[in-house]
Amino acid sequence: MNNKKKFLLAGLGVCVVILAAVIVVQSFVIQPPAAIELAKLPAGEYDPAVWGGYYPLEYESYRKNLEMTPSPTGFGGSVNEQKSIKEPEILMNFKGMAFSKDYAEDRGHPYSLEDLISSKRVTPASVGACMTCKTPYVKDVFKEKGWDYANLPLSEVVKGAGHPVSCANCHDPATMKLTVVNPAFIEAMQRKGIDVHKASRKEMRSYVCGQCHSEYYFEPKTNRVVFPWDKGYTPEQMYAYYEEKPAGFEKDWEHPDSQAKMLKAQHPDFETWSGGVHGKSGVSCADCHMPYQRHNGQKYSSHHVTSPMKNIEGSCKTCHTQSTDWLLERVKTEQNNVFELQHTAGLAVSRAHEVIGKASAVATADKAGLDKARELVRKAQWFWDIVAAENGMGFHNPDQVMNTLGRSIDMAHQSVEAANKAAGTHY
Ligand code: HEC
Ligand code: HEC
Ligand code: HEC
Ligand code: HEC
Repeated sequence: MNNKKKFLLAGLGVCVVILAAVIVVQSFVIQPPAAIELAKLPAGEYDPAVWGGYYPLEYESYRKNLEMTPSPTGFGGSVNEQKSIKEPEILMNFKGMAFSKDYAEDRGHPYSLEDLISSKRVTPASVGACMTCKTPYVKDVFKEKGWDYANLPLSEVVKGAGHPVSCANCHDPATMKLTVVNPAFIEAMQRKGIDVHKASRKEMRSYVCGQCHSEYYFEPKTNRVVFPWDKGYTPEQMYAYYEEKPAGFEKDWEHPDSQAKMLKAQHPDFETWSGGVHGKSGVSCADCHMPYQRHNGQKYSSHHVTSPMKNIEGSCKTCHTQSTDWLLERVKTEQNNVFELQHTAGLAVSRAHEVIGKASAVATADKAGLDKARELVRKAQWFWDIVAAENGMGFHNPDQVMNTLGRSIDMAHQSVEAANKAAGTHY
């Protein structure tokens, strides 16, 4: 064989290997399981056990969401634990509102309804809007009453809801195609010019999660659920949206010490992910949180939706060539760095509330100066909370999260300075 032939043969060999690799990667990462036999369930069938009769592998893995196990990162996990144990600043920063009474780590989807009803945050004054992300029954309620359900007592609306987050929240029962049911998500996307009914399968693999794992607020008077996305997904853009007092919404509550008008951030997993390396690279929520598995040769999506770090092999190594240990260490390092700064920011915000409170007690204090300090603590706390309320401890977007926390700390210090200046104090 001459050199040219050897070269061609080697080239051919390389091509074959690449092609084989592409096919393997495609079949694991991109290709869905072979066509499934459709049960054609009727609309209004919300019992996951009935769905499970036709789709047993998905149902069995969904049942695993009942397991309450910690994550190997030391963060996340499915254990129902109060966040204030590790972050006591929560008690000060949410003083005067329900999150200082009860703020637990999230756990599996089958617990969503139970955890809603038993939450100490729920009172007789709680409204139907709270049910929006906890059960597929919201479909019926919205069809029947439109947004009026949001303003009815939660105790009344929740009566008809027999099942927690389950199959019908993400699937059309007849076609099994992915679907979104939360009207607030559909409307927010519409305002951005996106018709979710025309979304690609790949987009749907994140939209089904984004319909619930997102920041929202209740519109004053109607309690309609609204996602603050008109200006974009970053903490700054969402804050700018709130600054315009949409539909008269200016606060979730007033802090009793600083008397600042505060916002409460809610689990912005979708927003945070969307600007991160994975979101920008088209890696969907389901790629990591619902990896493919095999049972007797049949491929299916794991419906055990929990920390991907419990199954690094399936969740990460479809794309990453690093070792399992390396990936775990990498995630832990990112999260430890974020936790440390998040804690520092939370404490800096607590101190600002305290100092403004003391400065306000000085009779001669300059009112405009105190208001400036209050505005700064409101923003500092938003920047802390939008990170602290997110569920990935920074993993979904480490660089943005670090930037947000750094700015929170700076604004909290500025707030303390402004309060002291207004009152002539040195707290
Ligand atoms: C590249 C992989 C990846 C993608 C994509 C991803 N996540 Fe995560 N997610 C993680 C990791 C890693 C953690 C941290 C888990 C831990 O600390 O144990 C996490 C944590 C979470 C948690 C908290 C889990 C717990 O144990 O409490 C939630 C909720 C979550 N992600 C939702 C989402 C949503 C919603 C999306 C899409 C908008 C998404 N994730 C996209 C990897 C991913
Ligand atoms: C949180 C959203 C969500 C819930 C809840 C959910 N699924 Fe899925 N399901 C998905 C996603 C995402 C896929 C992947 C679809 C794709 O990529 O086309 C999927 C895929 C499937 C498939 C196609 C085959 C496969 O395994 O990929 C079946 C069948 C299925 N789910 C059944 C169920 C059943 C039964 C339940 C209730 C016990 C359920 N699903 C609950 C999101 C969900
Ligand atoms: C209908 C609303 C809804 C949808 C859709 C939804 N979630 Fe959730 N999710 C929740 C709620 C509510 C909880 C908290 C339940 C609790 O703590 O009782 C939760 C909890 C979680 C957890 C924590 C589980 C654990 O083990 O700690 C993860 C991870 C998660 N969701 C990821 C996802 C992903 C990924 C998707 C899309 C495939 C998704 N969710 C779709 C509402 C939803
Ligand atoms: C579907 C493919 C895919 C999956 C699944 C995936 N990643 Fe990635 N990951 C990427 C891509 C693409 C990048 C961008 C950098 C690159 O091209 O290497 C990246 C970058 C990273 C980085 C460096 C950037 C950063 O944000 O710190 C880390 C760390 C990482 N991934 C960890 C994980 C972990 C842990 C998991 C599993 C929970 C995971 N990835 C799952 C595709 C993936």
